[in-house]
Amino acid sequence: MIEKQLVGEKAADYVKDGMVVGLGTGSTVYYTLQALGKRIQEGLAIKGIPTSRQTEELARQLRIPLVSFADISHIDLAIDGADEIDRNRALIKGGGGALLREKIIANASNELIVIADSKKMVHTLGVFPLPIEVVRFGWEMTAKHIRDLGCVPRLRLKEDHTPFITDNSNYIIDAHFHAIEDPHILEQMLNSIPGVVENGLFVGMTDKMITVKRGKIQVL
Ligand code: A5P
Repeated sequence: MIEKQLVGEKAADYVKDGMVVGLGTGSTVYYTLQALGKRIQEGLAIKGIPTSRQTEELARQLRIPLVSFADISHIDLAIDGADEIDRNRALIKGGGGALLREKIIANASNELIVIADSKKMVHTLGVFPLPIEVVRFGWEMTAKHIRDLGCVPRLRLKEDHTPFITDNSNYIIDAHFHAIEDPHILEQMLNSIPGVVENGLFVGMTDKMITVKRGKIQVL
């Protein structure tokens, strides 16, 4: 079994009857959703709240009942992937462009379980370019302010070379920092730039981490 499947399915074990569950985005959470879909067919009663249109679509196909923020007072548990995880469990997220909804849901959840294959574990964040969601108006100026923080910013493009548009109708700038020594400070500095909606640094949010070491599942 591939690592993503191992950790994705393991995370589904933490979902209990009656929970409101934040459903992350990406190829690792894909396996969690498959496992949840199966358990729901067998009688598990949960409600899911998706972090992206892509996840919403998959959840509907798997007949996972969905709710929106208008219907709930809290989220019990969110399960999501990551692009990089450092030694303090700070994350870079947003490789799929869903970072804003992912952060809103992680922040609203009583618990966040992060699932990742062993390749995502790093000492220092930053080799993976940091995704930053920005409004379209004035994005060139916003990118200059981001560059002043010590990175090379690139507007994310699709295969057809037109800008990638998020579920919230914004652009993504991928910021090449190479080494992020203080993710907490950088997260705050980025979010204080007018035009930045949110960035993919998730600091102090991870409650549980499920990964693989030498072929064995590790729950940390
Ligand atoms: C989506 O925008 C991301 O934050 C994903 O959660 C992250 O990129 C992990 O994706 P994979 O599980 O596909 O590697």
